[in-house]
Amino acid sequence: MSNSIFTNSQQDLIVNQSSEGLCLKGRIKVPGDKSISHRGLMLGAIASGETIIEGLLLGEDPKSTASCFRNLGAEISELNSEKVIVKGIGLGNLQEPVDVLNAGNSGTTLRLMLGLLASQPGKFFTVTGDNSLRSRPMSRVVQPLQQMGATIWGRNANSLAPLAIQGQKLSATHYNSPIASAQVKSCILLAGLMTDGKTTVTEPALSRDHSERMLQAFGAELEVDRETRSVTITGQKEIKGQRVVVPGDISSAAFWLVGGAIAPGSELVIENVGINPTRTGILEILAQMGADIQLENERVITGEPVADLRVRYGKLKGCTIAGEVIPRLIDEIPILAVAAVFATGKTVIKDAAELRVKESDRLAVIASQLNKMGANITELPDGLEITGGTPLTGTNVESYDDHRITMSLAIAALNATGTTTIHGAQAATISYPDFVDTLRKVCG
Ligand code: S3P
Repeated sequence: MSNSIFTNSQQDLIVNQSSEGLCLKGRIKVPGDKSISHRGLMLGAIASGETIIEGLLLGEDPKSTASCFRNLGAEISELNSEKVIVKGIGLGNLQEPVDVLNAGNSGTTLRLMLGLLASQPGKFFTVTGDNSLRSRPMSRVVQPLQQMGATIWGRNANSLAPLAIQGQKLSATHYNSPIASAQVKSCILLAGLMTDGKTTVTEPALSRDHSERMLQAFGAELEVDRETRSVTITGQKEIKGQRVVVPGDISSAAFWLVGGAIAPGSELVIENVGINPTRTGILEILAQMGADIQLENERVITGEPVADLRVRYGKLKGCTIAGEVIPRLIDEIPILAVAAVFATGKTVIKDAAELRVKESDRLAVIASQLNKMGANITELPDGLEITGGTPLTGTNVESYDDHRITMSLAIAALNATGTTTIHGAQAATISYPDFVDTLRKVCG
């Protein structure tokens, strides 16, 4: 049997790995950052004037954001990764849509948009999403919005989509969030942007700060207090359209960083990756595990730090991943679990219960699917305990329609003997439409 990577008509991804092994080589680019893409579209829609977005992610999630904001009255040109033009309609001018707004699989779309909808006085909105999103907790944003005076109804005591929102004039508040979540923080800041006075959010650990950076770039009045992890926005101040250059997504680069680090003979350069410090937990942990990763050509582009990342194969060792770093690598835990399977010794991941309410229960799913391949992973209530060094064998595994699970299993499959079939692999298009093409390219 020779090495091969292909998809079949049922959208399964099939990786055949012969005893020769598959190393990763070349120079690649990853698609635009998902978080920055959503925010560029949303802030562009509510700003005055024109916003130009270069490098937008063309995944299913930003498409959901664009579709919702078009239905709310913003004019957004055809989506492409070169140049998207958003004609802003100005604060408070979102239109009452004639139908339900559908956020698809995207928690960021639904939760951030809720802050804007709840604060449009006199207008009525309904929002929903796919099976996964309709089972994810919305009380984390509904409850603080209610504290500001919002009127929101939904299933399960107003905690599950579909949700109905009667827009209101809200009151400024200080919200002490019990979770380190950029979606919660951003939802409140966007509601605060529409509300008279100063609205403050305090979080228990620092989550990604793309909203703060972009709001400031668009001219919002924002104070950031790093020491207390608080952000204050002064509301009812018009924001102005800007040029947004979206860097490559470090959460997509993560698959290649781990793929290159664990496959003997690999050397890859991933160009133009966002290295915002609130997202670089993956680099810190891989360095701690002994990975050989270098940052080259560091620069700042429209307010976000960017670099090319060079990764070479190197022997990894297990480590503990817990505490304040968790929000800074929250989306990379499935692929870090793959790294840990190929490391010597034990890796313990803790304080990551949030993973149970992502697109799938990522702790349960990554443990069960990698264990099917021969890994030794025990689930903890808030993490994983992984004993590395057990060889993997190809078998049938499931994506659970979760993009990051699909791609993590594909990287594991490159290093498993025999044939791995990943069912439901089309999920990768949520954040990385070209994933399989790039996989083939780097494997030669
Ligand atoms: C995101 C925040 C994170 C992350 C998600 C995108 C964002 O979620 O997991 O993929 O763009 O704000 P939480 O803020 O809920 O942790």
